[in-house]
Amino acid sequence: MKHSILILGGTAEARALAGRLADDPRFAVEFSLAGRTRVPVEQPVPVRVGGFGGAEGLADYLRQKAFTVLIDATHPYAAQISRNAAAASTRAAIPLVALRRSPWQPQPGDRWIEVDSVGDAVGVLGGKPRKIFLTLGRQELLPFEAAPQHRYLIRSVDPVDPPLNIPSAIYLTSRGPFAEADEMQLLKEHDIEVIVAKNSGGPASYGKIAAARALGIQIVIVRRPDLPDVPSVQTIDEMLAWLDHAPSLPDPPLK
Ligand SMILES: NC(=O)c1ccc[n+]([C@@H]2O[C@H](COP(=O)([O-])OP(=O)(O)OC[C@H]3O[C@@H](n4cnc5c(N)ncnc54)[C@H](OP(=O)(O)O)[C@@H]3O)[C@@H](O)[C@H]2O)c1
Repeated sequence: MKHSILILGGTAEARALAGRLADDPRFAVEFSLAGRTRVPVEQPVPVRVGGFGGAEGLADYLRQKAFTVLIDATHPYAAQISRNAAAASTRAAIPLVALRRSPWQPQPGDRWIEVDSVGDAVGVLGGKPRKIFLTLGRQELLPFEAAPQHRYLIRSVDPVDPPLNIPSAIYLTSRGPFAEADEMQLLKEHDIEVIVAKNSGGPASYGKIAAARALGIQIVIVRRPDLPDVPSVQTIDEMLAWLDHAPSLPDPPLK
């Protein structure tokens, strides 16, 4: 019997995992995206796009398509879909395993201020005008309209449309990974004083953290949300090892 796997994706790791599973004859894989980016990167396995209609909808989908494993490889800040995945796996009685990168830890020289929400980040920026680099999702930017005194550099995958109601903002659209040297150049070019970022973990967006350390720039880090307590691994290799021992999986074909 093949394992039929639904991967909840939206991260570079999810895509890399799909690539590792795509040619393995023991698995049939489907990939699910929320549909947030206008032109998503291509995936090496069949893709479906859009919400399921909550945990109930996801459980129905798992049952209807007879999936045998659910993998939550969504972004660590996508807490709702992770909660839905936990509830749906229980309802549908299908094992769930999460692929979760560990958060970055502050290193000597880092000037981090950790906050619980984007709203709190706006608060700690203070009243004095500063040059700020926002590396948040475009759906998370509205709270900065309450602090129009700053000059913003805003980077997102898709254009911020409509733009924020603030007098001074430069918009960049680009998709990671971002190298430390390029981030360093960007920070210098725009004379950035503070970065606002999420603690995404992983290498793809770490360049700005390392560059900020080298330049002595402050970072306001929005802490991760609470995620459900489910079996989880941190790397693709650990996920492959988990799948090797997943219930009722046949032995790999002889080479
Ligand atoms: N939040 C971030 O910082 C961030 C950063 C990079 C990438 N992403 C990716 O973008 C996606 C959406 O993030 P979000 O913060 O909006 O998540 P969220 O708040 O946890 O999810 C909101 C709703 O979007 C739908 N959804 C989310 N991920 C989905 C997926 N992979 N497949 C199908 N439906 C999904 C679900 O709708 P229903 O309830 O209708 O099923 C979910 O309830 C995630 O896949 C995540 O990995 C998020």
